Amino acid sequence: MTEKENKIVKSAMDFVRKSLDGAEGGHDWWHAYRVWKTSIRLAEEEKAEPFTVQLAALLHDIADAKFYDGDEEIGPEMAQQFLEGLGVKKEVITKVVDIIKNISFKNSFEKSVFASKELDVVGDADRLDALGAIGIARTFNYGGHKGFALYDPDIPPQKFKSKEAYKSSKAPTVNHFYEKLFLLKVKMKTVTGKKLAEQRHRFMETYLEQFLGEWEGER
Ligand code: ADP
Ligand code: NI
Repeated sequence: MTEKENKIVKSAMDFVRKSLDGAEGGHDWWHAYRVWKTSIRLAEEEKAEPFTVQLAALLHDIADAKFYDGDEEIGPEMAQQFLEGLGVKKEVITKVVDIIKNISFKNSFEKSVFASKELDVVGDADRLDALGAIGIARTFNYGGHKGFALYDPDIPPQKFKSKEAYKSSKAPTVNHFYEKLFLLKVKMKTVTGKKLAEQRHRFMETYLEQFLGEWEGER
């Protein structure tokens, strides 16, 4: 990356940090930071374009629709305006914005026409942050933020058929493991992403085994 590109990345970091001040703990600046870190690693291994990857990773959750009344335009728009303001080339902006529009799990209910190596990298990094020890922490934090129960043996996990049904769920937090988190492993696109997801997936299985055992006083 050129010196100018590194400077732009640095500005993006400052912008994201400021914009996400006070955000819910699982969707704050540190989520962007972890996705950025993992994206850099995956981009090297996949030979993806690093500038596009880094900008998309940092900006991908700049305005998550679920914290903006479901508005899915606002995030990509904010990213676009920010990058235009810095004089980033149009073709790079288009790639970054396309990644941001296509990255979300909820959008995987719909068929996407956009595909790129850079989306694979940032998408895998974002999915990885939903898994493992961090994934568990984020999930319970989000459930707490929304006032969901930890677990309820009388409410079984569902198989959501639509994006709307998925988004409006108020199910206990443990259900989210079965409704989303355990479904992520097979969605991984990169070689290293698959390997890391495998490891983090097993860690969550072990965790839930212990959790459910403790629930019934068996462990
Ligand atoms: P996407 O936008 O790709 O659908 P989200 O932003 O909804 O992904 O999910 C990010 C993280 O927020 C999840 O990995 C999880 O930790 C937490 N989360 C989202 N929805 C729920 C939920 N219904 N219950 C518990 N945690 C959730
Ligand atoms: Ni994210």
